[in-house]
Amino acid sequence: MKVNNQWIRGIWSDDGGKTVCFPDQTKLPFRLEICREGTSDALIRAIKSMQVRGAPLIGAAGAWAAAFLCREAETEEELQEGLKRIAEARPTAVNLQWAVRRVAAASEGLSGAARAARAQKAAEEICESDIESNRAIGGYFAAIIEEVYRKNGRPVRILTHCNAGWLATIDYGTALSGLYVAQEKGIPMEVWVDETRPRMQGLLTEWELREAGIPCTLIADNAGGYLMQQGEVDLVIVGADRIASNGDVANKVGTYLKALAAKDCGVPFYVAAPVSTVDFSMAEGVKSIPVEERSRSEVTDISGIGPDGDVIRVQVAGRETAVRNIAFDITPARLITGIVTEKGIFAPGAGDRPFMPAPAGTRP
Ligand code: MRU
Repeated sequence: MKVNNQWIRGIWSDDGGKTVCFPDQTKLPFRLEICREGTSDALIRAIKSMQVRGAPLIGAAGAWAAAFLCREAETEEELQEGLKRIAEARPTAVNLQWAVRRVAAASEGLSGAARAARAQKAAEEICESDIESNRAIGGYFAAIIEEVYRKNGRPVRILTHCNAGWLATIDYGTALSGLYVAQEKGIPMEVWVDETRPRMQGLLTEWELREAGIPCTLIADNAGGYLMQQGEVDLVIVGADRIASNGDVANKVGTYLKALAAKDCGVPFYVAAPVSTVDFSMAEGVKSIPVEERSRSEVTDISGIGPDGDVIRVQVAGRETAVRNIAFDITPARLITGIVTEKGIFAPGAGDRPFMPAPAGTRP
């Protein structure tokens, strides 16, 4: 995406794979700062601290971490232990484990420089195919936006939760990709952006859309139900961190409540994600998908911009307050109108069967 006349991606390498660059998402939308890292440990820290975040981007960063590890590890034991640490950096987004497995499989049986080169190639391929998948996802969802526009003859009002834009991927995004493609086709839209407490990923979405010139309005997380009730939402689109084979979807906490409201109000509720987000080994999601719980300080403190223009943290709840910081929730398949992937749109129905065929070679 182009920001301030500069093309940037969720993560990229500009020195032949010695290091990778990425925007520090803990500083956005207040400040655009590009980090550069060249070790597996530094990338693990970036994933854990959410300097890089969003399921496909976590996968890509994990792939680069695995590639760096392949040139760092001196023994097989070091390699295996390091791969495990990368895969476990965050628990919910299945793209991370998927990407680490892919890099490890690609370089298996090799050693030294050959192993490092093959691992780097695998990481680059993961990044390139993410862009292609997102463009395809965007095409499918833009067709839905266009249909609504042709029917109503006014801007299409779309609600989204969290950030599933280019910042959460290599480029274009998953949920937001359809909006970017629709914009290219000249379809007018108005987007409701949930704040997404406690980490406020909605601010990233609002920043992305504003930079792209798509009209958008930030709303408090709990306002979406009212807007749907009042007929002010035509479509809901969200991303996903893991999708079970029956179509149950793990996404940022608050997604489930939006899906319930959408069902009650008859608003179509879509999920956009690449096939790498589908965990074909998991029959259902509500009981099985591991849900990350993060530090209490994300709830007790919020980040903002201080008088000097610096990013500062402000305490909003007591140090003694009991806190549980659940980062994701699971939306049952029955509440989802369609899952938009690079392979097409699938309606999961009652969630009593696989919502799409498993690609050859995936474990049931
Ligand atoms: O905790 P995060 O910010 O890494 O959460 C991931 C997300 O951004 C969302 O859940 C998103 O909707 C899916 S990732 C495209």
